[in-house]
Amino acid sequence: MTGRRFRSSTREIPEVSAVPRHIAIIMDGNGRWARKRLMPRVAGHSRGVEALRSVIRGCIEQGVEYLTVFAFSSENWRRPQDEVSFLMQLFLKSLQKEVARLHDNGIRFRVIGDLARFDPHLVKVIREAEVLTAGNTRFNLTVAANYGGRWDILDAMSRLMARHPERRDGFSEDELASELSMSFAPEPDLFIRTGGEKRISNFLLWQLAYTELFFTDVLWPDFDADALADAIASYQGRERRFGRTSEQLNSAPGQGSDA
Ligand code: IPE
Ligand code: IPE
Ligand code: MG
Repeated sequence: MTGRRFRSSTREIPEVSAVPRHIAIIMDGNGRWARKRLMPRVAGHSRGVEALRSVIRGCIEQGVEYLTVFAFSSENWRRPQDEVSFLMQLFLKSLQKEVARLHDNGIRFRVIGDLARFDPHLVKVIREAEVLTAGNTRFNLTVAANYGGRWDILDAMSRLMARHPERRDGFSEDELASELSMSFAPEPDLFIRTGGEKRISNFLLWQLAYTELFFTDVLWPDFDADALADAIASYQGRERRFGRTSEQLNSAPGQGSDA
């Protein structure tokens, strides 16, 4: 079988810890934040990088192990060309500025998404940052760029089928999950979307199966360590049943098994 370290929440009831191990965030509302201040939309994206910095710090302080942020979706190419170019430049500049600091703080950096459409120089800087930080274990920061949940699942499935053309009886959940771009991490415990919209927008479709969802009207550039603490507090008030009843949870020590 596959050597997957993290089992699927639909196959095995995961251990639940008080602090979410993995938080996934849709950083939304940058444009509206800027518009409210009569600034160009892209000014909100620049401020968004600062918000990300403080959220990374907050996650590390709270004991979160993985943070995965949606920076550019596979549908964001539909935006005006100027805004797309600005976002690409901002990604490059932020990386060049921040990678040494991420590394000094023991942070492992990864990018998930289809980088084929990105400028080769940006791809080179991304890959170098991943190599530089590959040995770090204190915290895992993953940026989803030109990422789409549907793309991820299709890409994984296509690779499995190419590798096993003889297979007639399909594939297992574990086999598929180990081909997805987040195979290195447990499924997110907590999903946060800022900016007031209540949708997933093609983010981690497979992995969010049993994730606790938190939606806030706070616009991403205003999201900070306190806002993060509020989201974690909300998470701590949830009962994660994974299909079981509340009575089962409160009576049996049945965690970690399918019984
Ligand atoms: C999220 O903020 C950042 C990206 C999608 C790159 P938006 O740019 O979507 O901001 P709003 O939703 O228009 O306010
Ligand atoms: C989702 O935000 C993608 C990112 C934050 C990168 P959007 O602003 O693109 O989502 P929709 O279009 O409102 O669903
Ligand atoms: Mg938006």
